[in-house]
Amino acid sequence: MKQDFKRRSFLKNTAALAALVGLPGGNIFSKAEPQELVEAAAKVLPATGKPVFGLKVPPIKQVKVGIIGLGNRGAEHARLVNAVGLGKAKITAICDIRPEFANKTLDFLQKNGGQKPTVYSGKPDAWKELCRRDDVDLVIIATPWEDHVPQAVFAMQHGKHVALEVPCALTIEECWQMVNTAEETQRNCMILENVCYGNEELWLLNMAASGVFGTLTYAECAYIHDLRELMFSKTYYYNQWRVRHHEVRDGNLYPTHGLGPVAQYMDIDRGDRFDFCVSMSNKQTCLDEFTPTLEPDNEFYNKTGFVHGDMNNTLIKTAKGRTILVQHDVVTGRPYSRINMLAGSKAFHKGYPSQMSVSGHGHGFLKAEEYKEYRERFAHPLWKKLEGEAEKNGGHGGMDFVMLWRMIDCLNRGVELDMDVYDAAAWSVVTPISELSVQLGSVPVKFPDFTRGYWKKERKLGVMANP
Ligand SMILES: NC(=O)c1ccc[n+]([C@@H]2O[C@H](COP(=O)([O-])OP(=O)(O)OC[C@H]3O[C@@H](n4cnc5c(N)ncnc54)[C@H](O)[C@@H]3O)[C@@H](O)[C@H]2O)c1
Repeated sequence: MKQDFKRRSFLKNTAALAALVGLPGGNIFSKAEPQELVEAAAKVLPATGKPVFGLKVPPIKQVKVGIIGLGNRGAEHARLVNAVGLGKAKITAICDIRPEFANKTLDFLQKNGGQKPTVYSGKPDAWKELCRRDDVDLVIIATPWEDHVPQAVFAMQHGKHVALEVPCALTIEECWQMVNTAEETQRNCMILENVCYGNEELWLLNMAASGVFGTLTYAECAYIHDLRELMFSKTYYYNQWRVRHHEVRDGNLYPTHGLGPVAQYMDIDRGDRFDFCVSMSNKQTCLDEFTPTLEPDNEFYNKTGFVHGDMNNTLIKTAKGRTILVQHDVVTGRPYSRINMLAGSKAFHKGYPSQMSVSGHGHGFLKAEEYKEYRERFAHPLWKKLEGEAEKNGGHGGMDFVMLWRMIDCLNRGVELDMDVYDAAAWSVVTPISELSVQLGSVPVKFPDFTRGYWKKERKLGVMANP
């Protein structure tokens, strides 16, 4: 009897997992065995277009921008694109399903420089009209996770470049859709991983590229941020979309803030690649214990049985033998951290607070004066150039402004963007890959190679080659 139940729930799980992987027959009747799922996850799909490594498009003197989703994040993007200035970019259209949110951004833009984009709103697919416009070069997408890929694919198919919020995709199949569409349409699909433009992260990137760390061996990174109040709030996220993922999914739901910078330090898909991971979540407690504190009229009041473990640990091994620990915990009452730890044969860094040690300088961390000397000597030129404006315009300490300014500047100049669709896929796919590992008992799961072998070619990141 017990055996039967185990078999039945396994079948139910594999159906969900098959859907996650994008296996045909990924439905309730799926009979996929664990090994088949693991193999299917790593399967490389045939190309339907031409690769977009180092994609360069003709310079766009003034980038015409459309923004979909004007909640917490999208409204910030509108404010910061506006701050980049009309000399470089103009917002021609904005869209939010909720008219009051679209109009709030319109009002802001009119009062702060006089831009007057066309507003689309009121129905779930109003964003399609924005994508069909001739006067949009770049679509910025800041909607809930489940909308990202359908919107990005449609925008690219209508000739637009796309800048997509994190994580870009939810399933392995969606990652391939993103890659194949970018290749078919020869459009950019950039992951909006703002943390790659943080002052500390750019500094580490510059030091890693300059050999300060020697051979890189290990990293730890994370998204640790107590979001309980915000996730259950009836007004913060649209329709409380974020916590709904915790009801049905267990893995690393938000890997890219920590992992994106690490992937850049380690030249992932530019000489190394994520090979496989094992993932483990602990028990779920914090949300169950939090819901009784909600107002009784909250849909989640007293709700229990959330699926997502409080802390997810995913350990990635790279093709060159490095390991990376990626953590996700948005429910424990602990201080914010992305860890930002990097170890190499010659140096070591950890964030929160930032401290560094260098081989041959004793067993402790560098003293304040020595640390300062490294900060100054290896400050990244992009950060140095934009420091004043980043400080003035803000956005997570200025990193949001630097990211948007840089993306628009690359399009203005017709040079390749710093992050491509392969980065978007490789960093986002950690979510479904880790879910698969968790569900199958923390077994190793191979990453699909979205570059189809091109990862072996050493390529310099745009932000290092052409800052
Ligand atoms: N990079 C970062 O630092 C950062 C920070 C916050 C959020 N994010 C990401 O940004 C995205 C949005 O998060 P958020 O906090 O702004 O959420 P949000 O709920 O505040 O905003 C989402 C917006 O999308 C709108 N929307 C929903 N369905 C739509 C549709 N069909 N058409 C048009 N608009 C629609 C909603 O009305 C809402 O205003 C998420 O992917 C999130 O992970 C990234």
